[in-house]
Amino acid sequence: MARTQRDDSLDTSSTLLARALEDTAGAALVLDAELRIAHKTPGAERLVGGTISIGQLAPKVLCGAAVDRPIAEALAAGRAVTGLVHRPLAGGRERVLRVRANPLLEGEGSSARRVGWLLLLDEERTDDAEATAPVLFHGMWTTDPSMKRVFHVIERAARRDATVLVRGETGAGKELVARAIHALSPRAKGPFVAINCSALPATLLESELFGHSKGAFTGAVRDNAGFFRAAHKGTIFLDEIAEIPVELQAKLLRVLETRTVLPLGGREAVPVDVRVVAATHQSLRAAVERNAFRADLMYRLRVVPIFLPPLRQRPRDVALIAQRLIEALNETGGRRIARISPGALAAMQRYAWPGNVRELQNALEYAYVVGEGPVLTEGELPFELIDPSASGEASATVVSAPPPAPEPVANDASKSIGKSNDVLRIERALERVGGNRERAAQVLGISRVTLWRKMKALGMEP
Ligand SMILES: Nc1ncnc2c1ncn2[C@@H]1O[C@H](COP(=O)(O)OP(=O)(O)O)[C@@H](O)[C@H]1O
Ligand SMILES: [Mg+2]
Repeated sequence: MARTQRDDSLDTSSTLLARALEDTAGAALVLDAELRIAHKTPGAERLVGGTISIGQLAPKVLCGAAVDRPIAEALAAGRAVTGLVHRPLAGGRERVLRVRANPLLEGEGSSARRVGWLLLLDEERTDDAEATAPVLFHGMWTTDPSMKRVFHVIERAARRDATVLVRGETGAGKELVARAIHALSPRAKGPFVAINCSALPATLLESELFGHSKGAFTGAVRDNAGFFRAAHKGTIFLDEIAEIPVELQAKLLRVLETRTVLPLGGREAVPVDVRVVAATHQSLRAAVERNAFRADLMYRLRVVPIFLPPLRQRPRDVALIAQRLIEALNETGGRRIARISPGALAAMQRYAWPGNVRELQNALEYAYVVGEGPVLTEGELPFELIDPSASGEASATVVSAPPPAPEPVANDASKSIGKSNDVLRIERALERVGGNRERAAQVLGISRVTLWRKMKALGMEP
């Protein structure tokens, strides 16, 4: 290729040109009409964070395979834009580059022809650029400063055996926190045992936790060590701890104090070496005030309290986590979503996400399956996102003192159908499936009969 076989004198002159460019315009890249890099300045390489070869495609160099590629798309479409590009740095951090794309024109007025681009690069300087850079911590993505403080607490708490109490709404990542604590602790090679305390009636929960000996009760046909002993030398994760029956609370307290368990029907207490991480979606203090939870047990558990903010209080995380989840969905095949439409993103950022990241996962999976094409559009999102009033949840803009999160309600889409928006959605769904009502109802998550009734009510019947 001619480009790589330049002679020395040409190299020298392009180096000079690059210096001159950087002196006057700052870090920059010059692209030809095909978006290949024709010139680069030293500062551009420093900001992009790696060697840039002449002749490479600029969108690839700048955006890689990221889902959010406003610059790449604008250039491809011939639009002059300013946009942000995230470049990975060591340690999971990112640098945010501001890229201003200026077309290089030849000729005048209406006969002007674009022959290339001048890209001016500089680092996006927010005061807290560091604080808001995306990070990945043991499966948790965030840009949120309070989440990053949580990560620091986890790192420090993990090293010691202190009992941790994680408070957060359902789907906010409590179990990931527990797993991170385990993975970062000296017990990492030991077992991690998770149990949901709200799932079992008292007697069953007691024998699951502390074990039982053969014959301890009808049906106890053999010895059972129980979860505490199964977690020996490791970590036990007691999820929904506020739901543990009162009669078991005293027993749990004794286990924590004596570090021994007494199996049901057993005579001797058995020593256990276990680190406890507990989690709750509701306030333990409130449960104590209701006399539903023992105060002494609460103090035992909340040696290191960790509060996970709900997703609606970290709106930047919605976009970040959505992008990461879409990249993962794209890997599953069937569809390649290249970007999220601005309308869809706005809807996701408005929504209150009572089920937090788990609900976001479900919503994207739904959109991935019911939609098609490279753009995830608003119409592909589940009903409750488009019309939040229908789900009865507070809007995302109401962030102060959210009510205790309910479990995410089953997707009762029929309830969500209200007014004019629905005509649009139904039309879109019908269009997408070539007019087949049965399929349209499936896509909308409602029954065929409900669809028929709604269409009639909305005056859509022929
Ligand atoms: N910050 C995050 N980034 C990416 N995925 C997350 C994040 N927080 C939670 N998840 C995912 O969301 C789901 C719910 O998380 P989980 O820890 O089970 O929540 P909880 O125990 O609070 O209900 C899991 O699939 C988890 O991997
Ligand atoms: Mg959970």
